[in-house]
Amino acid sequence: MSRYSRITGTGSYLPPKRVTNAELAAQLAAAGVETSDEWIVERTGICARHFAERDVGSSDLGVEAARHALEMAGRQASEIDLIIVATSTPDMVFPSTATILQNKLGVAGCPAFDVQAVCSGFVYALTVADAMIRTGAASKALVVGAEVFSRLLDFSDRTTCVLFGDGAGAVVLEASDTPGILASDLHADGKHVEILCVPGGVYGGKVHGNPLLRMDGQAVFKLAVGVLEAAARATLAKAGRTEADIDWLIPHQANIRIMQGTARKLKLPMDKVVVTVDQHGNTSAASIPLAMDAAVREGKIRKGDTLMLEGVGGGFTWGAVLLDF
Ligand code: UT7
Repeated sequence: MSRYSRITGTGSYLPPKRVTNAELAAQLAAAGVETSDEWIVERTGICARHFAERDVGSSDLGVEAARHALEMAGRQASEIDLIIVATSTPDMVFPSTATILQNKLGVAGCPAFDVQAVCSGFVYALTVADAMIRTGAASKALVVGAEVFSRLLDFSDRTTCVLFGDGAGAVVLEASDTPGILASDLHADGKHVEILCVPGGVYGGKVHGNPLLRMDGQAVFKLAVGVLEAAARATLAKAGRTEADIDWLIPHQANIRIMQGTARKLKLPMDKVVVTVDQHGNTSAASIPLAMDAAVREGKIRKGDTLMLEGVGGGFTWGAVLLDF
């Protein structure tokens, strides 16, 4: 009998502090940086984002999302035998945020590690967990996307600081006789490192280079729509399915215009696209599981629905996962 993996629970968590565009614009204006609610909504679809307090890290957000996913799955943390956290904003340089989160869940022993693929991190992590479950290396995995991107923002750069937010999402992925995850398609192209990066690094106890996010938004935008269409088509082909089989597209939540462009290319109406970018902003590796959990808890996504998850971001990295929920 074949062994597959299937999502049995989803969860998410947003830090309580919600900042609207108007509030952010007022804060930025006080520092001499000009932006407006109108510009942000028109160019990105973002209305508000959440920012974590200074002493809250990715593991704190991730552990709350994980608890909600475990509760929905009807599992205890002690039953989990694999923890993968997708993050580009780890609590520490090392150890991994996954081991810190494991300890906060009050468990020990199972493998725990981070995946660093920026905004594609969750589809990368889900693909790794699926592969480990199918080989028998694990049977009940916790896959988390958790970010405090506010830490990386240059609040004097209006072209980036209005785009991102903090949050976490998680799924419990379990071994199953039926799929579950149908196919995935992951890619990277390191020649585009410069268009979206945090170029600073730690050396001899000091930060060398700029430790804040830098992005050529237009270059990222142009690449994103093309690669997201290609990854979706490749994933459908691997699974022997077509666009018509997709009940819900859950794209990385960066910009509503990128989502609209991808949906158009896949001939999907926007009412089949899960959109949370308006309320969350871009939460990088957390955006897909945050959006999925919101749609599950709103009753939009139902058992048996076919979901296309798509991530794209720094690296350049991109990928898609097709699954039956
Ligand atoms: O998570 C990883 C994936 N990341 C993404 O997918 C991001 C992809 N890129 C984008 O979403 C868009 O390119 C942005 C939202 C970043 C920018 O939108 P755009 O329509 O490409 O704007 P633009 O860069 O062409 O800028 C248009 C104008 C410029 O002014 P001028 O030169 O026309 O006078 C900018 O200076 O808008 C100006 N501008 C702003 N104005 C008010 C840029 N940022 C702002 C701002 N408020 N926050």
